[in-house]
Amino acid sequence: MAASIEIGASPEGIQSMALKRANRHGLIAGATGTGKTVTLQVLAEAFAREGVNVFAADIKGDLSGCAANGDPAPAWAVARAAEINLPLTPEAMPAVFWDVYGELGHPVRTTVTEMGPVLMGRVLEATDAQAGALTIAFRIADDWIKAGKNEGLLLDLNDLRALLTYLSENAEEVGKQYGLVTPQSIAALQRKLLQLEMDGADHFFGEPAFKLEELLRTRPDGKGTINVLASERLVQSPRLYSAFLLWLMSELWEELPEVGDQDKPKLVFFFDEAHLLFRDAPKELINRVEQVVRLIRSKGVGIYFVTQSPADIPEIVLSQLGNRFQHALRAYTPSDQKAVRAAAQSFRANENVDVAKEIQELNVGEALVSTLDEKGAPTPVARTKIRPPNSHVGPILLAERQTMMRANTAGRAYEKTIDRESAHEILGRRAQQAAEATAREEEREAREKEAARSSRSSGAGTSRAKSTRSSGGSRTTAVERQTGRVASGVMNTIVRELMRGILGTPRRRR
Ligand SMILES: Nc1ncnc2c1ncn2[C@@H]1O[C@H](COP(=O)(O)OP(=O)(O)OP(=O)(O)O)[C@@H](O)[C@H]1O
Ligand SMILES: [Mg+2]
Repeated sequence: MAASIEIGASPEGIQSMALKRANRHGLIAGATGTGKTVTLQVLAEAFAREGVNVFAADIKGDLSGCAANGDPAPAWAVARAAEINLPLTPEAMPAVFWDVYGELGHPVRTTVTEMGPVLMGRVLEATDAQAGALTIAFRIADDWIKAGKNEGLLLDLNDLRALLTYLSENAEEVGKQYGLVTPQSIAALQRKLLQLEMDGADHFFGEPAFKLEELLRTRPDGKGTINVLASERLVQSPRLYSAFLLWLMSELWEELPEVGDQDKPKLVFFFDEAHLLFRDAPKELINRVEQVVRLIRSKGVGIYFVTQSPADIPEIVLSQLGNRFQHALRAYTPSDQKAVRAAAQSFRANENVDVAKEIQELNVGEALVSTLDEKGAPTPVARTKIRPPNSHVGPILLAERQTMMRANTAGRAYEKTIDRESAHEILGRRAQQAAEATAREEEREAREKEAARSSRSSGAGTSRAKSTRSSGGSRTTAVERQTGRVASGVMNTIVRELMRGILGTPRRRR
């Protein structure tokens, strides 16, 4: 195994990256069309060649090319390889395709329970009050599961919807035990769920849930696999896109054992369009991301953010990214200029490179590169011509993709959804039974009244039939519902939830 991977060449010589430090995370930044995806592909390919598995979101479909042989290489690739004197050996990399919608890859899904209240709240763009209601819903489900009741199983969106309905129909009891939720919050959440479903997110929630071991499989030939998440459609729902990747990151963090520093990472995770992750993100979420990023490296996972400007990434996260690939930035506006200055300051100085100036002058396929050396110190920034990939640049044909999908038995296990009995079925049945009981009760009352009336009119009895009100009626009145409020305890609960799992994902219950 090589100790490092070659990225390209600079006036100082070949630029490489130490595999040992590849878990210290990275950043690929640059304006559109400056060469970010090609750099990502070069890195992913080099990792796979060295036996490191990769997971990467493919925003435009062009990363799929890594699965195909790059022969014949495009003229620019041949020219670049000659220019920097690095070999260009056409080669296809082992790749597995995943797709939340199950169209361009094997379906990848998880359960609502696994997603947890915090990320679910983010997907639903929940207000504080709605987030409070969601937290309560998850708490109830949690308690049911602990009591061995399957109605606490939140597998798909139907289950969450059934639980929310239960919450509004039993607001009084729920309020006593967990804190009050307003009918407005529930109604708003129900509407948002519907919208989410209309956007196709129902594909994403359910079983069989994606197993992390898919990303950790080893191959007999010792190469790593590039797991490509087809994200062209997913990224149209930015909240779902970012919540999914956050979920995956926090799962990796929770599930993988501590391994300390290794010769190479176990997995490298490329998070493209990373600005979506942080846009409008509450401070707690940013802090959590920072924490996951900081801690996940000792589990042998490197996270690489790909975005246009380093300014898209909060400073506390940015400072964790040791391996930097900065393509050209344009500085038209004052905020662009600020981003350029910030990017420049983040590099270890090299007296031969005026970073702030050169960032704006870089050609396509060129980047300012600084990586961590064997000892973990950043190398001086170098203006680097990035090498071309050996695999195909640009999207592969759909037919090729489908052939690969058919050949991958592990991925095929996810093709068929399973719908086991969970909240939706059980609560639905119970609501039906309750409705039937109420109907029977009303019928009985009516019969008794009728009997009393006929006995009165016949003059036989003097006692009035007492109204026997159904004791099962725990429904709140409209007024009670209107005056319901989010209990002050709810915010504390949210904070506790955040502390519970690193991103609020609940404890394992597989
Ligand atoms: N290392 C390289 N050497 C030479 N040319 C390159 C290199 N990298 C990229 N290019 C050229 O630039 C084009 C665009 O590259 P790429 O798709 O990686 O840009 P991008 O920054 O990902 O763009 P976008 O922001 O639109 O996704 C490539 O098709 C290729 O022609
Ligand atoms: Mg790109």
